[in-house]
Amino acid sequence: MKILFLNGPNLNLLGTRQPEVYGPTTLPMIEASVRQRAAVLGVEVEFLQSNFEGQLVTWIQEARGQFDAIALNAAAYTHTSIALRDAISAVELPVIELHLSNIHARESFRHTSVIAPVCRGQISGFGVGSYILALEAAVIVKQLA
Ligand code: DQA
Repeated sequence: MKILFLNGPNLNLLGTRQPEVYGPTTLPMIEASVRQRAAVLGVEVEFLQSNFEGQLVTWIQEARGQFDAIALNAAAYTHTSIALRDAISAVELPVIELHLSNIHARESFRHTSVIAPVCRGQISGFGVGSYILALEAAVIVKQLA
C-alpha cells in the first residue's frame, strides 16, 4: 500500500510559523514521525510540499495508478481552491483532508473547506497527531474497501 502525503502553502515554515497555533515541530520532523508509523503498518509513504496551487493539482492528478490514497493538508487552499477540489474529484482516490489546527475553532473564514465534500473525511486539530491519524485513516479506508 502506498500513501501520498501532500502539503500546501507555508507548511515548509512549520517550526517557526506561529508555533502557538501549529506547534514547534518542523515538516521534516512530521515526515519522520509518519515514516516511523508507516514502517510499523507496513505502508510506503511519499511526502511532498509546495506553495503553488498548480503543483498540488498536478501531484493529485499524477497520484492515479501510483498511490492507494492521499493524505492532504491543503493549508490555506483548503478554503479557496476549486482547482484542488476538481482534481480530487477527478482522481478517484480516497483523499483524507487533514489539518494540524482545529479549523472550526479558528477564524470564520477557516470554517469552510471547499475540498471537504469531495474528501473521504476530515481530521483537524490534533497537531502532529493529525498526520498519524490521516495515515491510519487511509489504511482503514483501503482495508475496508
Ligand atoms: C492548516 C489550517 C489552514 O487554515 C491554514 O491556512 C494552514 C494550516 C492546518 O494544518 O491547521 O496553513 O491547514
